[in-house]
Amino acid sequence: MAAYEYETHDYDVVVVGAGGAGLRATLGMAEQGLRTACVTKVFPTRSHTVAAQGGIAASLSNMGPDHWQWHMYDTVKGSDWLGDTDAMEYLAREAPKAVYELEHYGVPFSRTEEGKIYQRPFGGHTTEFGEGPPVQRTCAAADRTGHAILHTLYGQSVKNNAEFYIEYFAIDLIMSEDGACTGVVCWKLDDGTMHVFNAKMVVLATGGYGRAYFSATSAHTCTGDGGGMVARAGLPLQDMEFVQFHPTGIYGAGCLITEGARGEGGYLTNSEGERFMERYAPNYKDLAPRDYVSRCMTMEIREGRGVGADSDHIHLNLSHLPKEALHLRLPGISESARIFAGVDVTKEPIPVIPTVHYNMGGIPTNYWGEVLNPTKDDPNAIVPGLMAVGEAGCASVHGANRLGSNSLIDLVVFGRAAAIRAGKVVDRDAAVPGTNTGQVDKAFARFDALRHADGGTPTAELRLEMQKTMQRDAAVFRESKTLENGVKEMTAIAGKLDDIKVTDRSLVWNSDLMETLELTNLMPNALATIFGAEARKESRGAHAHEDYGTRDDENWRVHTISRVDGAKVDLSYRPIITDPLTDEKAGGIALKKIAPKERTF
Ligand code: FUM
Repeated sequence: MAAYEYETHDYDVVVVGAGGAGLRATLGMAEQGLRTACVTKVFPTRSHTVAAQGGIAASLSNMGPDHWQWHMYDTVKGSDWLGDTDAMEYLAREAPKAVYELEHYGVPFSRTEEGKIYQRPFGGHTTEFGEGPPVQRTCAAADRTGHAILHTLYGQSVKNNAEFYIEYFAIDLIMSEDGACTGVVCWKLDDGTMHVFNAKMVVLATGGYGRAYFSATSAHTCTGDGGGMVARAGLPLQDMEFVQFHPTGIYGAGCLITEGARGEGGYLTNSEGERFMERYAPNYKDLAPRDYVSRCMTMEIREGRGVGADSDHIHLNLSHLPKEALHLRLPGISESARIFAGVDVTKEPIPVIPTVHYNMGGIPTNYWGEVLNPTKDDPNAIVPGLMAVGEAGCASVHGANRLGSNSLIDLVVFGRAAAIRAGKVVDRDAAVPGTNTGQVDKAFARFDALRHADGGTPTAELRLEMQKTMQRDAAVFRESKTLENGVKEMTAIAGKLDDIKVTDRSLVWNSDLMETLELTNLMPNALATIFGAEARKESRGAHAHEDYGTRDDENWRVHTISRVDGAKVDLSYRPIITDPLTDEKAGGIALKKIAPKERTF
């Protein structure tokens, strides 16, 4: 093996990833005077949060009556009763505070006539504990909300003296003998140097793993790097079988058309010109939750009512909306539709299809972002020195299905929570842990083996095989036969990592090697997804199992815990947290209000 020299950096906190969650955590840590580094493989404002369009949910009541308890109820119902109740309460309760903080940091939200933050309707957000009409809860900056948030948080982080290490790729975590995380080993992409970051707290904010699939709204950088590092450290992933398909990805291109388009009055039609959602969801119609709308679209296509030459997609209609509204509220998607579908939204419908969009599962955490390593005796055991936030983590607020606009609020509420917690548990006076050289050598050995890999399977070929298998066998609808096949095929595909071929051996801007490292991260995420899906014999949220068509709370209202070792996956289960943080007398939500029931729309 080549000898790798490295530079050492010592910090109180190292955040890996600079999307919404990573930047909100970085800012919160730096504001408290913790010495904070943010390590990111892309320039912060190019992180995938930049693509978030429709908005951020918070019960501000700017457009009509709303309460955080209604938001919490919708989140519980949206999760199909698989989320952790304490985390869902924390999310809904803290959301307004977190959004006003963003406003004060400088996020340029769209405004109402009276100058308040503009809010639009989004799927699954309702009033009166699901009994009332839809609510306008999603705070928006036109249809570029993630872009606005990301730029603001980056500016504020720099202002607060957070230090950024940009275009550094995190190779592996450094763990101590007693199971604490003490740092991360990184490769600087533009000059090939190696770096070891020692820290009292490492925060993984690495985003989702949408690129395990063939067609996704996720950026090509969404490769589940945090999940990959965690799996190699012998730590588990949680609820990975729950993969969200967004109803309106542009047919063919996969780019997102925001749910805000339906929030502003857009609607879906089939080949007969029928507004079919009225049939499936008489109350909420096109604003039913995403898992449900995606299934309805898929059923329309299966039953021969898809549009286009191959009857294999659906139309999203916006041309009835006033031109000024499209210009003011939906300028970004009007442009995307023109560029990627060749459509003028003022005249023609957009061709859309359910497209992989979000991973409900991830690295298990409590609602402070502390990573969990459940044992039989303690299902909530904490891994010292390690946190995970945003799509990389699983707190779990989204359970089996996330509501639209609950992602941006998850990023800022839990990025902020991690900072609050770190302010309490990180001892500023203590020494930063020393470099665990054994672990660093192990990371370099893995890196070097991949750099010189000379097998027969090019990275791009193996990645495509994985993506096509996941797309086919872990889709909107799943069945025992395809899931069993998926498990078999993915096991074989993961085995081929031993035969990988990397052609570029250099260390500077070596995208071949970087994509190979990313593939080694995608693979454990994909394996945990297909194994978890095959094992779960029920239908819940985004896991629609054709051989087990109903939800089974008696046997399956549990989190799936998967430990991935090479191509092997070991599954166990952890109870969900059913108690809210605050009881009703103290303004909390009554347990009977959120007891499981049938999800109807
Ligand atoms: O449709 C959208 O704008 C996406 C929002 C989200 O995933 O939360």
